[in-house]
Amino acid sequence: MENANTSSDRYSRGAVVLHWLIALLIVLNVIGAFVAEDLSKADKAIVMGYHKATGITILVLTLARIVWRLMHKAPPLVETLKAWEAALARVTHAGFYFLMLAVPLTGWAMFSAISKGGPVSMFGLFDVPALPVGTDKPTADMFYELHEIFAFVMIGLFLVHVGAALKHHFADKDGTMRRMVPWLK
Ligand code: HEM
Ligand code: HEM
Repeated sequence: MENANTSSDRYSRGAVVLHWLIALLIVLNVIGAFVAEDLSKADKAIVMGYHKATGITILVLTLARIVWRLMHKAPPLVETLKAWEAALARVTHAGFYFLMLAVPLTGWAMFSAISKGGPVSMFGLFDVPALPVGTDKPTADMFYELHEIFAFVMIGLFLVHVGAALKHHFADKDGTMRRMVPWLK
């Protein structure tokens, strides 16, 4: 078993912490956006205030995660993966990294356009300035569309990703889950 790429290869502690923290915040942010749709104007503004601040937080954590990822090599994929599984995993992971940047950036750009250059309040603690984008309606509409499309693609990847994690854990029993869940033996 020398040098075999098995479940004993785990993601670094920082990668694991950032993976689960970002995953939790993304799930909360998607739920928040959908819950907000059915609320009164005043309640919607409160929930979307959290949505925007949480989204900017996800963007910052993702930048930290990418820097961490470049400094700490990810463990090689489990050796027993079929070629299509390894390819799908690579595409899904790369897609997630792109979307973890693109979803908050398009949301931030959309809000910058809609609010005509208004800042994002970070939970009332401090303000993040608007992105330098146009403030006309077509620009706002374009970033809205992109934000929505990217968010829906992210939800699609989430289903593939979680489906794969559960398949590897319960059906294949190949230790993939252990790489990202430190307390699994
Ligand atoms: C929106 C939420 C999530 C996002 C954006 C996300 C993103 C990612 C990314 C980008 C990686 C690759 C890490 C790297 O190589 O640097 C990864 C790995 C992993 N994720 Fe997630 N994840 C999410 C939620 C989940 C959930 C809910 C589970 C479990 C049910 C899970 C289980 C795993 C596992 C087991 C790995 C390791 C895969 C391997 O062996 O290479 N993730 N995730
Ligand atoms: C990873 C982070 C984020 C996720 C997953 C996310 C997800 C979503 C989703 C699913 C929607 C609903 C789209 C629809 O109506 O069909 C939405 C709407 C929205 N998002 Fe985000 N978002 C994120 C970050 C941000 C950020 C950083 C901002 C602004 C600073 C933002 C501003 C908005 C606004 C203003 C809307 C609603 C527009 C409206 O319905 O009037 N989002 N977001």
